[in-house]
Amino acid sequence: EDVSAASGTLLDWYDRHARVLPWRVAPADLRAGGRPDPYRVWLSEVMLQQTTVAAVGPKFERFLSLWPDVHALAGAADADVMAEWAGLGYYARARNLLKCARVVSGDLGGEFPRERAGLLKLPGIGPYTAAAISAIAFDHPEVVVDGNVERVVARLFAVETPLPQAKPELTEMAGMLTPAQRPGDHAQAMMDLGATICSPTKPACGICPLVTPCRARAAGNAAELPRKTRK
Ligand code: ADE
Repeated sequence: EDVSAASGTLLDWYDRHARVLPWRVAPADLRAGGRPDPYRVWLSEVMLQQTTVAAVGPKFERFLSLWPDVHALAGAADADVMAEWAGLGYYARARNLLKCARVVSGDLGGEFPRERAGLLKLPGIGPYTAAAISAIAFDHPEVVVDGNVERVVARLFAVETPLPQAKPELTEMAGMLTPAQRPGDHAQAMMDLGATICSPTKPACGICPLVTPCRARAAGNAAELPRKTRK
């Protein structure tokens, strides 16, 4: 079964089943031409770097109520931001968050760079976060690969190479899946599929929108992929 139709099928699924998350734009607003606020996308992606969606939700809302835009955050006292960060862990992320807000507010007129390369120069923004912001906030066709996406791709293409060795191969395959239309929604659809259906040990193949093209499903070993090199 061909995988070339997979991104269209996945976007149809996302339109019906996207998780409602505070940094996302509601489907009706998206249809009306609404775009995500880059500040909200950046803040959520930095918070999500090592913290779960469930833990980030309330913190994200709290930050937005205190500091609704990048200029407000840039003007915050360091101690206030560190105090509000409590519970998210990895305080270096909070320090970089403030540094980044001050660069964007002070040097870039409050505008986040749209391109991956520009984003990568900012404090606290690595390759994954740069790609995610460029795709989600600006709808650039960046390839966004986190652990969830690696798992979905490894199964869809029945990749037997173990992680971490498989990373370049999985990134290349994720790139082949990335559509020119709605790449930001595609990236988030891959994350949602990995988080809700294509789960690590008990994938719910019976309700998966990509069950037809999935090669691991056909081979009967979806739950065993991706393989990992034993440490
Ligand atoms: N994890 C990292 N970024 C995410 C996003 N935009 N939506 C859901 N989960 C995520």
